[in-house]
Amino acid sequence: MLGIIGGTGLTQLANLEITRRQVARTPWGEPSGALTFGHICDQEVVFLARHGYGHTIPPHEVNYRANLWALKDHGVDRVVSVATVGGIHPELLPGMLVIPDQIIDYTHGRGATYFLQSDKPVTHIDFTYPYCEAMRAALLQAAVSNGVSLRDGGVYGAVQGPRLETAAEINRMERDGADMVGMTGMPEAYLARELGLCYATVGAVVNYAAGRGLSADGIQMDEIQAVVGEVMLQVRHLLEQLVTDDAAGLCAI
Ligand code: HPA
Repeated sequence: MLGIIGGTGLTQLANLEITRRQVARTPWGEPSGALTFGHICDQEVVFLARHGYGHTIPPHEVNYRANLWALKDHGVDRVVSVATVGGIHPELLPGMLVIPDQIIDYTHGRGATYFLQSDKPVTHIDFTYPYCEAMRAALLQAAVSNGVSLRDGGVYGAVQGPRLETAAEINRMERDGADMVGMTGMPEAYLARELGLCYATVGAVVNYAAGRGLSADGIQMDEIQAVVGEVMLQVRHLLEQLVTDDAAGLCAI
């Protein structure tokens, strides 16, 4: 089953016909909220709002371990995560969608592994290519079918938040090779890998990163809000198409 993790601007899916909500408990504590099960075009999917349904959990306090665990425990094998990002690469403009293919992790102090038991052998998991290529390909195909425009590839720089970056930090990230900056990409992607979930991210660019473009003099939160609404409409179309492609045309959009 497909799991969708929604971020800022996507605390629910308008086209999800909800069948049940399930409070999930995990060995890692409570997920951000109840799992919302439903159908899009006759396909069962489960949705989870990363920041809680009232958007009250900041990025550094999200229980990523519980979220991914709960999804897997309830039958999810593939995950699309939706995350807002700031654009660092000059081609990543507010309002665009991007499917990143690499990650640089600048986060710290987050529960970032399931391998804690000291009586087990140390486990290292390959993370050379952090996203599941099959899920990336499915998203790119859905975009083609639906006419949603998005950029294929880019390096996601995951920062700690909740503060935004300084201009110098963004310059450094660019020198590192980061194309976009967001606060939730890690450890989510890595935990999905530890659990064997096929995971990819849809990045929704909602602002120029600090010191760039229209953010040259600072990031205006009210401008972000306006873009979030617009770009999440595109995300909804994309997810609808993804599920429809999966269902081999069970419903018409
Ligand atoms: N920085 C970090 N996270 C973000 C940004 C940003 O500019 N925009 C959206 N999420």
